[in-house]
Amino acid sequence: MQQQLIDNFERKFEYLRLSITDECNFKCNYCLPDGYQRSHQKSFLSHQEINNLVIAFAELGTKKVRITGGEPSLRKDFTQIIASVASVDGIEKVATTTNGFQLEKQAKDWFDAGLSAINISVDSLDANTFHLITGKNIFQKVMRGVQASLKAGYAQVKVNSVLMKGVNDNDLALFLNWIKTEKIQLRFIELMQTDDNDAFFNKYHLSGESIKARLLAEGWQQKQPLSHDGPAQVFKHPEYEGEIGLIMPYSKDFCKSCNRLRVSSTGRLHLCLFGEEGVDLRDLLGNSCDKEALKQRISNALKDKKISHYLQQGITGGTPHLASIGG
Ligand code: 5AD
Ligand code: SF4
Repeated sequence: MQQQLIDNFERKFEYLRLSITDECNFKCNYCLPDGYQRSHQKSFLSHQEINNLVIAFAELGTKKVRITGGEPSLRKDFTQIIASVASVDGIEKVATTTNGFQLEKQAKDWFDAGLSAINISVDSLDANTFHLITGKNIFQKVMRGVQASLKAGYAQVKVNSVLMKGVNDNDLALFLNWIKTEKIQLRFIELMQTDDNDAFFNKYHLSGESIKARLLAEGWQQKQPLSHDGPAQVFKHPEYEGEIGLIMPYSKDFCKSCNRLRVSSTGRLHLCLFGEEGVDLRDLLGNSCDKEALKQRISNALKDKKISHYLQQGITGGTPHLASIGG
């Protein structure tokens, strides 16, 4: 019988977020303001280790894998990794989250390799503000990448944006106008505090509730949550082609619908974005991969999954920035 991953709070985990590198070529001010620092040469999971890992997860009931980073497309074998993850029995959906740097060139190749959904980070629709936030003066190039993804045939194109007080919150009107005619799900992610961005967080955090109130006042309606939405709250409007997803990690019930597990680029299983150091899986992933032991270790670890994170209390639990664990 197909095994399943279910925790002590009856949450079922069919979604794996797998980071394949910590490296990123952007310097987003809330994530890696000084750019990626290669302090100690980390060795990221090999293609073979990734295969072994995904096969074990699939046998434990995983149906969807999101390949993340850092910036996952910085790996030269990214397209091959997509193809092999997509070919694992039981994996129905392969997604990625990208900063869009390679998208204009690669959107179609990734689709052809088996990628079914794509999330692109676009923190501003104003070229200067985009440059200010990401450290890269390539707004137009990323937007051409978004268009290339829409054309390539993906079932779903989502755009992620972290709205920050006094930085890009004025862009909300531009964003809404954009999705009047574009079939995109725009996801506003509330800025999260991490170990490294403490002062920044206090200065720029904008509550997701304030955005929600504004949407409701402008006639957006909240959709009934679908089981695979995870913690996002989704809104639609009769006059708009696109949708809006709000990711509000500080809202009361955010963790109730948690449906994902994470594995870092060095092979540590994380039960939450915040609050624990992870369980090392790497010794079981190599050439002599012991699949049954690996599955056992993953199932056992899940017993320790907590009901919620403790971000509300300012406890970030040792996560330096989200590039280190795949957002
Ligand atoms: N708070 C909220 N979102 C973040 N991301 C990265 N760091 C943070 C943070 N501290 C987002 C990026 C990207 C996704 C992978 O995670 O904007 O869209
Ligand atoms: Fe790179 Fe994403 Fe972090 Fe920006 S948020 S620096 S694109 S990992």
